[in-house]
Amino acid sequence: MCPLANGFALPRSVLASYTEAEENNGETGVCLQVYSTVRVATPSDIEWVQKVAAETWHATYADILSPSAIDNFLKWAYSEYSLRQTLNSAGLWVLERAGEVVGYIRLSVRDSVGQLGAIYVLPSLQRQGLGHKLWSCALAWFEARGVVQVELTVAEGNHIAQAFYKKLGFEAGELKRSSLSGEPLVERIYRYVVGG
Ligand SMILES: CC(C)(COP(=O)(O)OP(=O)(O)OC[C@H]1O[C@@H](n2cnc3c(N)ncnc32)[C@H](O)[C@@H]1OP(=O)(O)O)[C@@H](O)C(=O)NCCC(=O)NCCS
Repeated sequence: MCPLANGFALPRSVLASYTEAEENNGETGVCLQVYSTVRVATPSDIEWVQKVAAETWHATYADILSPSAIDNFLKWAYSEYSLRQTLNSAGLWVLERAGEVVGYIRLSVRDSVGQLGAIYVLPSLQRQGLGHKLWSCALAWFEARGVVQVELTVAEGNHIAQAFYKKLGFEAGELKRSSLSGEPLVERIYRYVVGG
């Protein structure tokens, strides 16, 4: 659990990075300490984020969108230009583990409502608590900005993400019809009451 997510309104400078060690026996059975850090992204993370996005998007949406729709979306939404804009205007955080970026989360605040725009962990490292770690730090970031509600949308067929959000305490809301790269997409809105 991120100790920064304890409800204190910390300034952004304090919320810039959080590191935790975990013990990992690996395949050899030798006990290693693996450090994972959640920190604010910098321009040098752009290529890493693009790599994590490409791998995770294809694995996640293979049954929901065509590969070409995914590639077209990634081409503009994760272009260097778009990511640099995100770095300037919103909170882009990366999860670095054993020296490599393996996940990221994108946060913003609109009219006092927190927006969780993306949360992605490489498929090979999912279900090991890393998503929860990213969310804990996001929650601290939102609390520091006085956010009382967080919203997000998730593809209706993305059952794993929906299970994840429910576990975190999000409530499922209404459906929203949209499209991605010209293909129809049904999404569900999820809401979380901060401090609720
Ligand atoms: C959603 C995502 C970020 C969760 O990260 P994660 O590191 O795998 O999640 P955690 O290990 O912290 O899991 C927390 C809880 O979520 C739920 N969960 C996570 N993966 C699950 C799975 N495969 N099946 C069912 N429940 C799951 C569980 O309740 C889990 O708690 P538990 O392990 O104690 O039962 C990750 O699965 C991911 O990157 N998915 C692809 C991208 C995506 O769909 N992002 C959301 C777009 S809106």
